[in-house]
Order: sequence, then C-alpha cells, then structure tokens
Amino acid sequence: MSRTLDHLLDQNVVWASEKRRHDPTYFLRMAEHQTPQYLWIGCSDSRVTANDVLRLDPGEVFVHRNIANIVHTSDLNILSVLEFAIEHLAVRHIIVCGHYGCSGVRRALGGDRGAMLDHWLQPITMLYRKHKPKFDAIGDEAARLDRMCEINVEMQVRRIAATPIVENAWARGQELHLHGWLYAIHDGLLMDLGPHLSSTEERDALPSIDARVIDPAEPVSAMRRQAIDAFTRLPPDAMEGLACPLPAASHRLTCAEGC
Ligand code: CO
Repeated sequence: MSRTLDHLLDQNVVWASEKRRHDPTYFLRMAEHQTPQYLWIGCSDSRVTANDVLRLDPGEVFVHRNIANIVHTSDLNILSVLEFAIEHLAVRHIIVCGHYGCSGVRRALGGDRGAMLDHWLQPITMLYRKHKPKFDAIGDEAARLDRMCEINVEMQVRRIAATPIVENAWARGQELHLHGWLYAIHDGLLMDLGPHLSSTEERDALPSIDARVIDPAEPVSAMRRQAIDAFTRLPPDAMEGLACPLPAASHRLTCAEGC
C-alpha cells in the first residue's frame, strides 16, 4: 500500500486545472479576500458538505463542523469561529444545519457512555432523558431519531442566539439572521425548521425548548416552499383548467394545492 496519497494530489491538479480553464481569474479572485454571507454550523458527517448542498463556490460560506452540530457555549473553537464570522467577516446569516439519521444523535439516544464523544453529546442526552416518556412514546426508532435530530437543531440555534457575541451584534444594530435547517441525505434536500431569529426580542419570545418537544415545528423543504410561494402569488382563479406545473416525481411532496 502506498504511504502517500498521490491519487488525491492528482485529483487536485485536475480540479485546479479545470477551474482555471473555465474561469481564468478564479484563483486570483480567491486569493484576494473572502466575503462569505453565511456561516454554516453543521455535522462533521462526510455526506453533508455545505458548499455542495448549497451549490456555493469556495469563498461564499464560512464553515464550522463538529459531531452532531452541537453548540457548547464553553467551546473556544466555535466561539472563535462565531466571533470571527460576525465581527470580521460580517456574515448576514448563521445556519445551524443538522441532518436526519445523524450517528451522533443516535448515540446520544443509546446507552453507550464510555467515550469522550459521550461527553460531547451530553446536551442531547440530557434533553432526551428529561423528556424520555415523550420521546419513547414515538414507537418507531427511526422516527424517534428524526424527532431528536429536529429538536437538536432548534436547541443549537437557541444556544447561538444566547451567546454574548450574537447579543452584542444585535445590540449594535448589526444585521444578523439565525436559521435552523435539516438536511435529508436520502434526497439531498434541505428543510427549513426554524426558528428564525434576528433579534433578542424574537429569541426571548420563543416558547421553551421543552414546549417544542410536545409541539414540534414542521420542517419545510426548499422545494415545497418554492411551490407554496408560486401558488400563493397566483390569483385564486388562475389554477382553473391548468395542469399542475410541478414535476411528477416531486408532486406528492411539493404540490400545496393537492391537484
Ligand atoms: Co451527524
């Protein structure tokens, strides 16, 4: 077995050459500065890469990833990323993006407690234990995992919103919007779960995370939101006699009109 990773270095040469061929000034522009509008806080899972799922180029999204996209408020890594993104890059949006089927969340719901990872996952474990009867009432294990993946995103958005870094940004009038999203690995679609927070007032008006366990937010996929927006813009009689414009494959998920 080779001790070097020549195949990866070869792929890099191909990638850089293709980039230059399609856009001769690409790397010159990249080398000047970065001006990302977004900070992505996601899971380390190798299948959930921010640039790919957002269809963004390098330079367009600032990224922090860890197992199960958790915001520990004593984690110098994430706090440094947050401070740099807000105060130096002046990002407008912070996206906490979890994903369905997260192995970290699955472990937090299980009984294993022997690894450093279990300390890391403790916020999820504690929420699960606190509401164990509610979660366990979801008989299907996969559905229970999905539910916890959703709640975890919302919990982490709230933790971001509670940091002095974000509070200070809002206090000085900096435009900064927080979002909670979920990525579905099985179809590649992002879903907007919320909460959407742009001020301390909005944060403080949220129901408690405990209330969310009982009354979950409904994730909305980008595709479905597009469909809802499209139909909302149409006058009520515009649909009469028209075939549904949505592709047949996505019809069941996306058509808000039930046609
Ligand atoms: Co994960």
